[in-house]
Amino acid sequence: MFLKLAKYFEDKTPNESNKIEDLINLLNEDINNNYQKAINISQEKSDRGAQRVCSWGEKATKIINSLLSRYEAEGEKLFEENEIWLCTICGFIFIGKTAPALCPICKVQSDKFIKVDGRVKLS
Ligand SMILES: [Fe+2]
Repeated sequence: MFLKLAKYFEDKTPNESNKIEDLINLLNEDINNNYQKAINISQEKSDRGAQRVCSWGEKATKIINSLLSRYEAEGEKLFEENEIWLCTICGFIFIGKTAPALCPICKVQSDKFIKVDGRVKLS
């Protein structure tokens, strides 16, 4: 099943783009369409785990979308004296000097955050 899922998402994944508008469009499609479809299916199946993942993912996606809008407005200044932190449990992204003590989405502690290095510059 995991191999089938991996192949499905590989086939659905568009070619990599470094353009902000392409990323924002993909995020908006998830926020406006795809999460609701996934939530509906998880509710039909009474799958509480899937419902939780959809809820976390939708929140993290909205926050990432907001960060991209800030990046569009502020550019590299957004990252001055800050690092990018990723919650490895839910995908929440935080910009700051240190990881947050507690993830605002999934509530794990800071040891579940990793610092993102070597990011690609967006255009
Ligand atoms: Fe999290």
